[in-house]
Amino acid sequence: MSILVLGGAGYIGSHTVYELIDQGHDVVIVDNLQTGFKELIHPKAKFYQGDLRDKEFLNEVFDREAIDGVIHFAANSLVGISMKEPLEYYDNNVYGMMVLLEAMKKHGVKHIVFSSTAATYGEPKQIPILEDSETSPTNPYGETKLAMEKMMKWCEKAYGMSFVALRYFNACGAHPNGKIGELHNPETHLIPLILQVPLKKREAISVFGTDYPTKDGTCIRDYIHVCDLADAHIKAIHYLLDGNPSQIINLGNGEGYSVLEIIKAAEQVTQQSIKTVLCERRAGDPAKLVACNTKAQEILGWNPKYTSINEIINTAWNFYTNRK
Ligand code: UFG
Repeated sequence: MSILVLGGAGYIGSHTVYELIDQGHDVVIVDNLQTGFKELIHPKAKFYQGDLRDKEFLNEVFDREAIDGVIHFAANSLVGISMKEPLEYYDNNVYGMMVLLEAMKKHGVKHIVFSSTAATYGEPKQIPILEDSETSPTNPYGETKLAMEKMMKWCEKAYGMSFVALRYFNACGAHPNGKIGELHNPETHLIPLILQVPLKKREAISVFGTDYPTKDGTCIRDYIHVCDLADAHIKAIHYLLDGNPSQIINLGNGEGYSVLEIIKAAEQVTQQSIKTVLCERRAGDPAKLVACNTKAQEILGWNPKYTSINEIINTAWNFYTNRK
């Protein structure tokens, strides 16, 4: 089976490629390396460097390769930047999806697994969040991902394509092999930023907001290991190739941790005390996001293996200390 992975040089994409190759599948990667990293590309994957909005380039990849299914990670994904540059997000995310779906239609490729996000829900009215909870994004990032989901829905009705949109909560951790892990430039995510303190790359970690209506006043998130996310994508592509209907599915552990609890867990893992600075809230952060993950269990037979937050942080720590 040959799978086209768009964004296979990125954080979650690279972990999915490693898992696909471990399971014996052929993988074709398309990545423009704008936010992806060469060092994350699996040596056994076939790699095409280019932009998915480049129709000629993308159609050539589909012409050359016999693709059975597509897993699509290639998108801009920073909430803060999306507020400042919404059109960039519409261009890369929404227009990029349009070009991809056109190429799939032209080449008779009918199955796509899509990297969506909890940001499609916006400020939730109920916790845990179910897939049929209201979607009301509070930023262009979530808005573009929701638009991409809807494009797939209409293509399903018109062209008989099937899709699984996976709405992730907070992706984190690294492959236990220590070779690949979370890399972003600039880094904005909590766990890698915390670990920069014991790695001596940062003086202190800022805690954005201490007056949220939560147990300790800091934001609560559902942290899910990147290898569990990778596993769900592979289950989802098999599910579609078996002829099953389209789905929208949450991916989270179903358990929430506050920012202060994550810092404490990181101190335990690294055996170092981590300097913390209490700051104002960051714009656009909901107080609490926790998934209901029952649908993923029922439809995909998916159960997260990494349920201990210390173990998750330990995989990230292992990756960063290996690459120092
Ligand atoms: N935080 C800090 N200090 C920091 C960085 C983050 O206190 O230096 C806090 C944030 O305010 C938030 C929590 O840590 O409360 C997690 O923040 P991240 O930036 O790591 O992740 P987000 O929850 O903001 O966003 C993540 C993904 C998005 C996705 C969203 C959906 O990065 O792509 O989850 O839940 F949209």
